[in-house]
Amino acid sequence: MPNIIVVGTQWGDEGKGKIIDILSKDADCIARYQGGNNAGHTVVVKGKKFILHLIPSGILHRGKKCIIGNGVVVDPKELFKEIEELKCTGLSVDGRLFISKQAHIIFPYHRVLDKLRESKKLSERIGTTGRGIGPCYSDKVARCGIRLVDLLDDEVFRKKLRFNIDEKNEIFKRCYDFSGFKYNDVYKEYKEYASRLKDFAAEAHLMLYKELSKRSSILFEGAQGTLLDIDHGTYPYVTSSNSSAGGACSGTGVGPTNIDKVIGVIKAYTTRVGEGPFPTEIAEEDLGSFRDTAGEYGATTGRPRRCGWFDAVIARHSAVINGLDELAVTKLDCLNGMDPIFICTGYGYKGRVYKDFPNDVKILDGCRPVYEKHPGWKNNCAGVKDFKKLPGNARSYLKRISELVGVKISMVSVGSGRDETIFVGK
Ligand code: GDP
Ligand code: IMO
Ligand code: MG
Repeated sequence: MPNIIVVGTQWGDEGKGKIIDILSKDADCIARYQGGNNAGHTVVVKGKKFILHLIPSGILHRGKKCIIGNGVVVDPKELFKEIEELKCTGLSVDGRLFISKQAHIIFPYHRVLDKLRESKKLSERIGTTGRGIGPCYSDKVARCGIRLVDLLDDEVFRKKLRFNIDEKNEIFKRCYDFSGFKYNDVYKEYKEYASRLKDFAAEAHLMLYKELSKRSSILFEGAQGTLLDIDHGTYPYVTSSNSSAGGACSGTGVGPTNIDKVIGVIKAYTTRVGEGPFPTEIAEEDLGSFRDTAGEYGATTGRPRRCGWFDAVIARHSAVINGLDELAVTKLDCLNGMDPIFICTGYGYKGRVYKDFPNDVKILDGCRPVYEKHPGWKNNCAGVKDFKKLPGNARSYLKRISELVGVKISMVSVGSGRDETIFVGK
C-alpha cells in the first residue's frame, strides 16, 4: 500500500477512525501527527465500539506498529487510561506503540489554564475540549514546553518544571485568583509516569525513516479537521495544531516526497462541536430527531454536535489546502428518508456571492448560504456493498459532491461497522 495521509476535511468527527481502521489492514505503521486527547476516533469492530483519543486507530489490528509523532501533545494520565482500556479488551500495545521523544507533554497546569481561560472569556469563547491542548502547544511555541525527552532526564525535568510551575502559578494568581500547583506534587506524579513512558520513548522520525527504507507503508492519521487547523481553519475558533495534511510531515519528521496519497474524510453533511461560525447550520428547532438518529454527540466530551447541510465551499477549501487525491464520504445512511437535501455552493454576503472560502469570521457569521436542492431517497442505503446498488438519488448526490469539490470519491461509508463500506470502482 502507498503512504497515505488521512485527513478530516470539515470541523472534525468526519469518521476518520473508521476509515483509518479499514486502511490499517494493509499498512505497516500508523502514525498520529498532531492534536492530543481532544480527539475521539470511533472504531466499531463486530459491534464493539472503541474510542481512541491518543493512540492511533490502527492499534486494533494486532501486530501493526503505532506511532505517536512529535507533533502530538501527550497527556500521560489519559494515555495510560487508554492503554488500560485496550488491555481489558485483550489488546496489548507492548512492543508496538512508540512515542516520539520530541512529543510535548500535557501537565495539569495546561488543563486548568485551558478551562480558566475559557470560563473568563465573555466573547470569542472557543468551546475547547478542556484537555489543555492550547496551553501545551503555546508552551511548545514559546520554547518552555517539556518534551518526553526532557521528562526522562531528571536534571532537565526538575529545572523545566520549576520554571513552568513558578510562571504558571504567577499567572494563575494574578489573572484567575487561583492558588496554582505545588511543585512536589506535580514532580512526583510525573516521575511515576516517566518510569512507565520510557518503554515507549522512541526516535520516531528515525523509525519511520527505516520503515520507509524497507518499503513499509505508513498511514498518517489526522485528528480534528481542516477547518480546525490553526492556520487554515476558522481562526480563532480552531484547535492549536496543523490538522491539515501538511501537519503530517512536520508532525512525524517524514519528508513530503514520501507521501503518495491524501484521502479526505468527509461527512455527507456537516457537523461542528464548540463555538465558531457554521454557515450551513440547521437551527435546533428544525433539526427534529436528526442528531439522535445520526448519533451526533461528541466522542470525547459527549457534547451535542451542531448539525447542518453539506457545505461545498469549506469542502473545496479543504481540497485546496490538503491537495486531496480522494474522498471517503461517511454517514451517507444518516440522510436516508430526508427529502429534500440541500448542498451549499456559495455564501451570499453584502451583494456578493463567495465561491471560495472567505477567511473572515464576519463574512462566515453574516453570510446567507446559497443552496442547491436535491431529491432525497427512501430506500435504506445501509448494508449496500456496491456503488451501483445505492438508490439513484444517493448516487446523484454523491456525484454532485465530487463535482463541486473537484475530487473523486473512492470510498462511501453507509454504517459504522467495518463491512459497511463501499469501495468505489472496485
Ligand atoms: P472521527 O473523530 O473523525 O474519527 O469521528 P468520530 O468517531 O468522532 O465520529 C464519527 C461517528 O460516526 C462515530 O460514532 C462512528 O462510529 C460513526 N460513523 C462513521 N461512519 C459512519 C457511517 O457511515 N454511518 C453511520 N451511521 N455512522 C458512522
Ligand atoms: P476529532 O479528531 C471535533 C474542537 C473543540 C473546539 C476546538 C478547540 O475527533 O475529529 P481544543 O480542545 O482542541 O483546544 O478545542 O476544536 N475540537 C474538535 N471537534 N472533533 C475533534 O477531534 C476535535 N478536537 C477539538 O470542540 O471547538
Ligand atoms: Mg471525533
